[in-house]
Amino acid sequence: MAQPRILILGAPGAGKGTQSAKITEEFDVDHITTGDALRGNKDMDISDMDTEYDTPREYMDRGELVPDAVVNAIVEEALSQADGFVLDGYPRNLEQAEELEDMTDLDLALMLDVGEEELVDRLTGRRVCSECGTNYHVEYDQPEEEGVCDECGSELIQRDDDTEETVRDRLEVYHENTEPVIEHYEEQGDLERVDGERAPDEVWADVKATIEDAA
Ligand code: AP5
Repeated sequence: MAQPRILILGAPGAGKGTQSAKITEEFDVDHITTGDALRGNKDMDISDMDTEYDTPREYMDRGELVPDAVVNAIVEEALSQADGFVLDGYPRNLEQAEELEDMTDLDLALMLDVGEEELVDRLTGRRVCSECGTNYHVEYDQPEEEGVCDECGSELIQRDDDTEETVRDRLEVYHENTEPVIEHYEEQGDLERVDGERAPDEVWADVKATIEDAA
């Protein structure tokens, strides 16, 4: 396959970021992630876009979706610069899915299936490097030295939206807005499901094989 164009789908905490990092390395594609892009621009002034709140932060800290116009522009710009990619965190509602269809074609939509309580456990236990963004988990993926990133030596922090209350809100938003997107790809016959409720390397073996099969 030329550089693949992959969509990775799944609930918050399903392991999209973890598996995307491996896909990026193995298949030499860009990782386009709306969550990271928005975290890097949390205090951007979006008040001229006729939005309820003035910055992405106010949506994200509530576990709500940032308005489509903001996110669509980020994805369109990133896709225009990528040959192959793994797209993570978008589309999150049917309107975004329609926009995406106008922006690019996909080789594969990959869904990571994980149960609700496991999702809560993973997210509330996640710790992230404040500098390079590497993910850890307080039980399943600990750094060599507590609170310190193995990759760059910086401090590990908890994301503002990884508290239990906000995680529950994010899951509700996911059920309401993003599950219809999964059904949409399933009805089109374009969705490949992988059991994401296993160790990261076991999930990766299936993810890799699924991408190779789609070639
Ligand atoms: P975003 O950053 O996209 O968050 P998310 O979808 O909620 O996904 P996460 O990054 O939290 O989880 P993940 O699936 O990547 O899991 P990870 O690999 O880290 O979005 C944040 C916010 O931005 C949204 O709430 C919204 O406000 C806004 N936003 C983003 N996109 C938007 C859009 N399109 N439209 C509007 N608003 C948008 O893994 C989680 C943890 O589990 C880690 O600790 C990891 O170490 C561990 N782990 C991973 N895999 C395994 C495994 N197999 N076994 C055990 N532990 C594992």
